[in-house]
Amino acid sequence: MNSQEIRKAFLDFFQSKSHHIVSSSSIVVKNDPTLLFTNAGMNQFKDIFLGNVEKPYNRAADTQKCLRVSGKHNDLEEVGHDTYHHTMFEMLGNWSFGDYFKKEAIAYAWELLTEVYKIDKNILYVTYFGGDEKENLAADEEAHQYWKQYCEESHILPGNKHDNFWEMGEIGPCGACSEIHIDLRSDEEKQQICGADLVNKDNPLVIEIWNLVFMEFNRKADKTLEPLKEKNIDTGMGFERLCMVLQGKKSNYDTDVFQPLIQNIATLSNNVYGEDAKKDIAMRVCADHLRAVSFAIADGLMPSNNKAGYVIRRILRRAVRYGYTFLAFNEPFMYALVDTLVEQMGEQFPELQKNHGLIVKVIKEEESAFLKTLAGGIQKFDKYIKDNPIGKINGGFAFELFDTYGFPIDLTCLMAKEQGREVDMEAFEENLKRQKERSKNAATIKAGDWVEIVENFKDENFVGYDEYECQCHIVRYRQVETKGQALFQIVLDATPMYAEMGGQVGDQGVLINGEEKHVKKLMRLTILNVEVVVEYILYYGKKMKIIML
Ligand code: SER
Repeated sequence: MNSQEIRKAFLDFFQSKSHHIVSSSSIVVKNDPTLLFTNAGMNQFKDIFLGNVEKPYNRAADTQKCLRVSGKHNDLEEVGHDTYHHTMFEMLGNWSFGDYFKKEAIAYAWELLTEVYKIDKNILYVTYFGGDEKENLAADEEAHQYWKQYCEESHILPGNKHDNFWEMGEIGPCGACSEIHIDLRSDEEKQQICGADLVNKDNPLVIEIWNLVFMEFNRKADKTLEPLKEKNIDTGMGFERLCMVLQGKKSNYDTDVFQPLIQNIATLSNNVYGEDAKKDIAMRVCADHLRAVSFAIADGLMPSNNKAGYVIRRILRRAVRYGYTFLAFNEPFMYALVDTLVEQMGEQFPELQKNHGLIVKVIKEEESAFLKTLAGGIQKFDKYIKDNPIGKINGGFAFELFDTYGFPIDLTCLMAKEQGREVDMEAFEENLKRQKERSKNAATIKAGDWVEIVENFKDENFVGYDEYECQCHIVRYRQVETKGQALFQIVLDATPMYAEMGGQVGDQGVLINGEEKHVKKLMRLTILNVEVVVEYILYYGKKMKIIML
């Protein structure tokens, strides 16, 4: 089965079991302060679990775009070095909202794996929650008993809270879970060590493929567990891992999900995948990170210096550094992989097709900008290592790489790790704090008085829900001086551009004088709706057009 058929078989199976097939939600989380990115299929259903909204259906299934790069679930360090972790991945899931519970969830999972996908049951192991005294939770004997209908006792293992009690984050819905693991080792290896001994032991060929969560609690901020109104099911199966299993591969990167990208990177860099361990890691990192960055941009997130935008920038820069150091790319190359990704996944995720051009442009610009300073930073780093062959990497030096060369700190940590070294993080943080204080002072705006063009103007017209462009006028302006630069802030009477708010990056656009067809780039909006900063007042009193980029 190719990956598209595997995905379809999952959705068809659950549709045949009366599940409502839903679309993946955005990979970028916009309205939940506890999360930057979707890190599990259940995120979009959180409010249903908590009973905050009415449920539109009792059963659902989907494939969800997830990103695990920050917070409680963070796989970034493993990516590329092993063969089965990813930043962005698809999670296949089925849900019951107060409908079926453990018995059916286990039965469905077993039927799909062994009868539809025809996986040999002898290579499957399942786990159940073994209880936790501190939480005052008993072992999940119920799940244990259900599993006995399908598996030999030797393939059913109790697990601890870390592996068998799933929580969305520090707070939120949670519950005991049963994981399904698969042993892909050779018969010889199996004879030497039994698969049961390798479950949850980081063996790349004995891995978890599916997690069935029996969601019945809400973790409160004071850490107590509050029972949810209803008992629910939340399952998540790693799509890329499933493809590896069903395509008879030993690495997710050898499946048709990743190979087109990997081969593309190999060709562009004039290498052959599978010949050199370090180059292979770099190719895997680039293929993985390209997906993460492209999906995030397609969902409206731009690389930036803030919050979620900075996470994306860091991921992209990490890939660019791997490409530069191990694959000898000293020109932008990641953007050139986007076509392959869109071709491969655009049908299932049309947002990729819709934003194809934008993704290419943004990635290329980001790469060009970082490559300008990357070589200099790496030279500095190498010299530092030579001059200071032992001990922690000085925090002030790490800060210089960050501040002057744009090296995200985790990139410097990674480079340090490659040398068997560590960064003095305390000193780095101290430098960062001092710089923030300095720039806070420097960014203080000296502003002149507002000059009203339209007197007592109150209602800015935000048209961005429906339009990307609109006619507008300046209603007031003032001169400001910021960071030693004289600029004008102008307020328009209408705009399609959304301002920077709640961690979301503000839109950007151009202001056009229709008569002269004259275009000047606007700076980012700073205040809700219409405040923009421009170098000078271009079209005083004239009717203009504002277009979102
Ligand atoms: N929420 C669980 C997980 O992410 C199952 O979907 O593993």
